[in-house]
Amino acid sequence: MKQKTLIVYASKTGINSDVAHTMAEVLETTYDMDVTIADLHDGQPDIAPFQNIIVGGGVDRKSVYPEAVDFLAKDFSGKKVALYFSCEDYETPKEQNTEENTKKALAKNPSLKPVDVAAFGGCVAIEGKPGMDNSNMNRAKDWTMEFGKKVGAQVRPPKQVYRIRKEPVVELHVDLIPAAEMPPASELTEGFFELWCDLGGKFRFHLKAGNGEIIAASQGYATKDGAVNGIASIKRNASMAMVIDQTAAKT
Ligand SMILES: Cc1cc2nc3c(=O)[nH]c(=O)nc-3n(C[C@H](O)[C@H](O)[C@H](O)COP(=O)(O)O)c2cc1C
Repeated sequence: MKQKTLIVYASKTGINSDVAHTMAEVLETTYDMDVTIADLHDGQPDIAPFQNIIVGGGVDRKSVYPEAVDFLAKDFSGKKVALYFSCEDYETPKEQNTEENTKKALAKNPSLKPVDVAAFGGCVAIEGKPGMDNSNMNRAKDWTMEFGKKVGAQVRPPKQVYRIRKEPVVELHVDLIPAAEMPPASELTEGFFELWCDLGGKFRFHLKAGNGEIIAASQGYATKDGAVNGIASIKRNASMAMVIDQTAAKT
């Protein structure tokens, strides 16, 4: 069954929000999973429809953002919950710090057992203000892939690419030989087309055998180009054309 995952975050300067969106993209493209993102500044979303919930938040002067702490007070029975902190602890987050942040995040729900906890680094504060950007989306992406595996999400099959095989269109050039330069009969043994203009101004052609007998006669074309295209079409297609026998009933 398609799993539903909620990614909910608390963010002041946007890093935890960026991470949430990156995670959603990874989950939706890698797994057959519906993902909903919610910003806790807009209120607490209903968790009922979701099997998995990822909660993210920053840290401000050793306190996990309170919106995340309040959200985590909910009853998550039967759901798989994971936490992430995009804070100062980047690249090699001190385990102890991540552990401390987890404790703080779960201050109102200490019995909750997250399936995983991670810190990805964030925007490092310099003199109390957001400074160097140490967010690491690649770590967040790898963690998200692992999260999908952990919750047993079905890997999305790779998209099928259908190629439509198209035969190359062979441009067939028809050389027009002026009647005055008509080759001798010895060079026309395989037959030839004869193109002319009738008294009504219509362009027509005959397909003739090497001995000059008419094998096929065309319709009248309004233009010379039309008649030449008719000749090209016969040259291109006639060898493959089916023969429909309308005489069968009479013989
Ligand atoms: C005033 C201030 C205090 C901070 N205090 C901490 C802290 O005590 N521990 C920590 O790991 N990160 C701390 N940070 C870093 C933030 O958690 C980090 O900038 C985070 O990426 C912000 O996330 P956000 O953009 O989603 O709000 C602090 C940042 C600021 C600006």
